[in-house]
Amino acid sequence: MPYPSYMEESIRKVEATRERRLKEELPRIPVGERMPVLKAFHPDFIKACMRELLVGPNKGERTPNELADLLEGNSRIDPDKIDPELNSGVDYDVDVLVIGAGGAGASAALIAQETGADVLLVTKLRLGDANTVGFQGGTQAADRPDDSPALHYLDTMGGARFTNDPKLVEALVKDAPSVIKWLESLGVIWDKKPDGSMAEVALAGECVPRCHCCRDYTGLEVMRVLRDEVKSRDINYVEFAPAIELIMDEKGQVAGAVLVNLETNEPLLVRAKAVVTATGGIGRLHIQGFPTTNHYGATADGLVLAYRVGCPIVDLDTMQYHPTCAAYPLAILGLLVTEKTRGLGAQVLNIDGEQFAHPLEPRDVLAACIIRECKERGKGIATPTGQVGVWLDSPRIDMIHGEGTVAQNLPAMVRQFGRFNIDITKEPMLIYPALHYQNGGIKFSPDGSTPIPGLFACGEVEGGVHGKNRLGGNSTLDLFVFGRRAGRTAAKYAKGVKPGKLTLDHVRQWQRELKEAGLAEVRPISPKLLPDYARQPYDYLADYVTERLQPGQIKVA
Ligand code: FUM
Repeated sequence: MPYPSYMEESIRKVEATRERRLKEELPRIPVGERMPVLKAFHPDFIKACMRELLVGPNKGERTPNELADLLEGNSRIDPDKIDPELNSGVDYDVDVLVIGAGGAGASAALIAQETGADVLLVTKLRLGDANTVGFQGGTQAADRPDDSPALHYLDTMGGARFTNDPKLVEALVKDAPSVIKWLESLGVIWDKKPDGSMAEVALAGECVPRCHCCRDYTGLEVMRVLRDEVKSRDINYVEFAPAIELIMDEKGQVAGAVLVNLETNEPLLVRAKAVVTATGGIGRLHIQGFPTTNHYGATADGLVLAYRVGCPIVDLDTMQYHPTCAAYPLAILGLLVTEKTRGLGAQVLNIDGEQFAHPLEPRDVLAACIIRECKERGKGIATPTGQVGVWLDSPRIDMIHGEGTVAQNLPAMVRQFGRFNIDITKEPMLIYPALHYQNGGIKFSPDGSTPIPGLFACGEVEGGVHGKNRLGGNSTLDLFVFGRRAGRTAAKYAKGVKPGKLTLDHVRQWQRELKEAGLAEVRPISPKLLPDYARQPYDYLADYVTERLQPGQIKVA
């Protein structure tokens, strides 16, 4: 028995209801009726956890406190020390600089190079260290005879309660089928049926199965291929060199970046005719103390850099809390449990083994329902270390599709829980929402350009595609669609632009604004670059425990 013995009674109840639940399907909450549960239980609606920004292009708008601190942060550089070198001795001089080497950055670099640009790809950690490698559930694309980009468009808009930018969604769904083919042509081995057609799975909010997977190791497989492609095409890349400030020219165009060599702490200067930011998301800020599915480097760097050159951010008041992430054991707290698990038939159950929400509700709704079940109704299962969760009944999958389905389709999940002697083919997983994705991001257009000349964006760092709630499998699609588009547009732009004298005056101006607003003394230095667990061990966990668990609200069996 890998779970603590006091959970046994609840697990027996899950087993006892399984047969009956085979035929039980709860209704979904209609789009127009979602707001009450969201407002009451989704973390985005906790007012005290956000505040108005006092400076910058989004001044007056609200964003989570953790992000506000960084957007209003002090620069890491002293422009007076770097300026003299800018126009004499840069370390790299290229057409297109791509910052961030996950799925979006690698795609941008490949297409920019194909479009004739001299490309430099730089990354905070190693090539491919990004959220991309962690994606499990797959990539959406309407390429079946019973599907169409129009249906994909409607699902995507509806999932976000019609808060997305329609032009961006149109680009997303139209490019999707060709992106799947492009990745396959590079070497991605998509799951196929015996007849050679794609084996697609339905994720939440999809009217037909549309998600292309490589088992539940999809991101690992895609990033393997993209990484190999970058290397085999001899695209120049620099690792352990995060960007800490953008460089402008005297005409107000973005014209490069200041990087820092993480080993020597020395600055590296890059002059570039165009800069693509593909730095990913912000999960490691642990908004509201939530655990996260995100990789170690996801600390909002691209948002900070773009904000300082005057680029607005859209939907910065909304985060995605993936409803099903490990709540037990503690060692994997926050680990993503792919939506594919629910797509294959796993239901979410309370301490009594009863369903309380349709398992394929959109993520924001299901996360809110799970939080309600635990916090308001007291029907969660408490863990020995103070977390709480509900069951995700994976053994139901084998009952529906036949023995071996879980092992065949979810090998990563089987292995992750198996390390702790939990056999998810026979026992349910204990799950709870975790911070997964930044729904919003840098304002940008379908071609990857931003309102700031010379600055392009793609992947999780940009916003507008997913509005206030993203559907599963659309983020990975976003990486490749807008990575390719941004790479192409940046390369074309680079051919026609003539950069002027380089300057860091915008950093001086920024520091003046901070001072005038009385913020320079009280805000941290940003970008943050890495989470500060070493200095504040388990702080985020402590927050999580106190925020999520109210005495008396959790029923212990
Ligand atoms: O549930 C998942 O596998 C995650 C997919 C996504 O965030 O798109």
